[in-house]
Amino acid sequence: MAAKTTHAVGVDIGGTGIKGGIVDLAQGTLVSDRVKVATPPGAHPKDVLGAVKEVLGTLGVTDDKMPLGVAFPAIVKGGRTLSAANVAEAWVGFEAEKFFEDGLGRDIHFANDADVAGVAEVRYGAAKGEAGIVLLTTLGTGIGTALIHDGVLVPNTELGHLNRAGHKKDFEAWTAYSAMERDELTWKKWAERLQVYYDHLEFLFSPDLFVVGGGVSKHADEFLPLLKLSTRIVPAVHRNNAGIIGAAALAAD
Ligand code: BGC
Repeated sequence: MAAKTTHAVGVDIGGTGIKGGIVDLAQGTLVSDRVKVATPPGAHPKDVLGAVKEVLGTLGVTDDKMPLGVAFPAIVKGGRTLSAANVAEAWVGFEAEKFFEDGLGRDIHFANDADVAGVAEVRYGAAKGEAGIVLLTTLGTGIGTALIHDGVLVPNTELGHLNRAGHKKDFEAWTAYSAMERDELTWKKWAERLQVYYDHLEFLFSPDLFVVGGGVSKHADEFLPLLKLSTRIVPAVHRNNAGIIGAAALAAD
């Protein structure tokens, strides 16, 4: 019998940064440094592949013995990327999983970034043991969502791209953390936008729990208490590492 895999590598490709780490699968924690490089301008496939190689090189992952999960900020179906909100248009309809496997010379597991963060929080974090509907949102360059029912993920929900009634742009453009930075909002002003967004999600999905991830979740104390919702809302336990941890966990399945 093959020895049980105890560690796996996760790489989380985002609109702004590409992060990676080696994950202890029993604990769901990083056992390496968290390595981060900037996402290359334009996020074209060849450049992103180069950046992923750099992350793996810095982590010292040189062979394919350890499972590798790669998370990407787009709809991922059958290994293909089907959208491109914050990356190059070339990813739309692109055989991305195969592209990374050929480029890295090894198997990978490839999935949407918010979905893998949701898996990490179900297995090792804020959504562990939660019955009913959990909706994880990542607030970063974009807004990613993971819809989980009784611990089972419904993939590719893309609820950051819900349209705001009466507005041309979607919620992501107005409510992501990048919108807060762009519009130089205070926590209070940003929370007013988040209130509209989470009210809408609450009405549509009647969730039992909201989990908030993305880099800004480390400042959850600044904005979550400002929200008035009927649904519990908590920060992701693994904050901005949830993508790395979830990608690694799925790769080892
Ligand atoms: C993308 C999603 C992604 C999210 C967070 C959105 O713009 O459409 O696929 O999960 O950003 O990165």
